[in-house]
Order: sequence, then C-alpha cells, then structure tokens
Amino acid sequence: MRASPGCFITFEGSEGSGKSTQIRRLAVRLRRNGHRVRVTREPGGTPIGRKIRHLLQFSRAGRAMAAETELLLFGADRAQHTRETIGPALARGEVVISDRYADSTTAYQGAGRRLGRGFVECLNRFATAGLKPRLTFVLDLDPEEGLRRARKKTRRTDRMEAQRAAFYRAVRAGFQRLARTEARRVKRVDARAGVEEVAARVWALLPAKLQKPAPHRERGARRKRRLDFLENTPRMKRRSPTLERRT
Ligand code: TMP
Repeated sequence: MRASPGCFITFEGSEGSGKSTQIRRLAVRLRRNGHRVRVTREPGGTPIGRKIRHLLQFSRAGRAMAAETELLLFGADRAQHTRETIGPALARGEVVISDRYADSTTAYQGAGRRLGRGFVECLNRFATAGLKPRLTFVLDLDPEEGLRRARKKTRRTDRMEAQRAAFYRAVRAGFQRLARTEARRVKRVDARAGVEEVAARVWALLPAKLQKPAPHRERGARRKRRLDFLENTPRMKRRSPTLERRT
C-alpha cells in the first residue's frame, strides 16, 4: 500500500493491559490539538469484521475452531479492515489508532499457537498489502495480572481468554521479541505503571508532528490572534502611517 498523508498508530498487548483506556485518552488529546483521529479495532473494525469477531470470540460454532482457521479468520478481518477503514482514513490525512493489528497475529497465532513465523508473516503481508504502522505501543504486563484485570471488568470470558497460562506467556514473549527486533517502530511500555504515567510515556514517544497542533489549526489560531489584536486596538493606532500623514 502506498505511503499516505495520515499517521497510523497501533496498540498491542495481552488482555487487561489497558489498551482501550490509553487509546481513548490519546484520541482525546490529539483531537484537542486539532488532529482528525479515527479509532478502530481488530478484530471488528468493519461490518464484515464484526461478524468475524463474533465467530472468533463468542459463537458456539467457534468452540471447535482449529488454530489454522483462527489464523485465517484474523487475516480475513485484517484484509477488509486495511482496505475499507484504515487505508481510506490515512489517505484523507487522518491519524488512525487501531486497537491491535498484524503484530497480534505474530504474537497470538505465531508465538502462542506456534503456527510458524514464516507463514504468519507472509499472511500478514498479504492481508495488510504491506501497510505497517508508523508506531506501535506494546503495553506489557504479566499475563496473570492482565487476565485478573480483564475479568474484573467483564464477567463474560471469550474463547481467547480461556487459554492456558503457558499460551499467554508465549504471547507476551512474542510481543517482547517484536519490541527488540523492530525497535524503531515497536515501543514497549510497562503497563504496571498508573494510567497517567503510561499516557505520559505514550505521548512522549509520539512523532513531533502529532505533539504539535495540527497545521490547519495553527493557521486558524494565528488568524484568530490577528483578529483579536485588531479588535482590541483603537482605530487611530490601526491606521497605516501613510494614511495618518494624509489626514
Ligand atoms: P480484544 O481486542 O478485545 O482484546 O480481543 C481480541 C482477542 O483476539 C484477543 O484475545 C487477542 C486475539 N487476537 C488474536 O489472537 N490474533 C489477532 O490477530 C488479533 C487481532 C487478535
């Protein structure tokens, strides 16, 4: 997929790591700065994706799902999401924040289910058409602590949350490996810290252009300052020196 004017950011991590809270906060802060922000998620960022999400997480039919089927369903969800939601939003110049993307497949299906890194990478490339996030935050947390947090929030355990502890340890190791091997893009953030502290760390790691007000907002603010100045300046003072000399 071709480079586009927007900026693509993803959040990754095990269940209960606080992704949704951080995404909400980041979106609010960026919008306040005048950026156009699109928040989305995987699986389930499109109408097709929502059907796939149900199948993967809560449907009865999903209980007997083979690991290979699971991998392909996440791939199908991503193929649609990239083309229907993420790509067009980036082309419009928006900041796209996705709750999970291809790195989840690398960690959950590649490392957790041991489906083989080579094939998973190949599928990811196919599903994303080569589109990679500009920046990825991995909110890193001990999986048992994460599952405790997640279960406190909702009683309903989905199919993925019913996995064994060893699976989650492998998933965490998968994310940590990504943070080491793709250190420029993937930033590990310790999720044990408080919400404020994690949010501050996330903000500090953003590209400078996102920390600043959006360019159109800056232009607007400059114009407003000029108008305010004119409004608050007495008429005589506002005249140009030439005009004053003539009168
Ligand atoms: P969540 O986004 O609500 O946490 O739930 C999504 C679940 O699906 C979570 O357990 C992680 C899992 N998942 C994968 O196993 N592979 C993937 O590629 C994605 C996007 C999610």
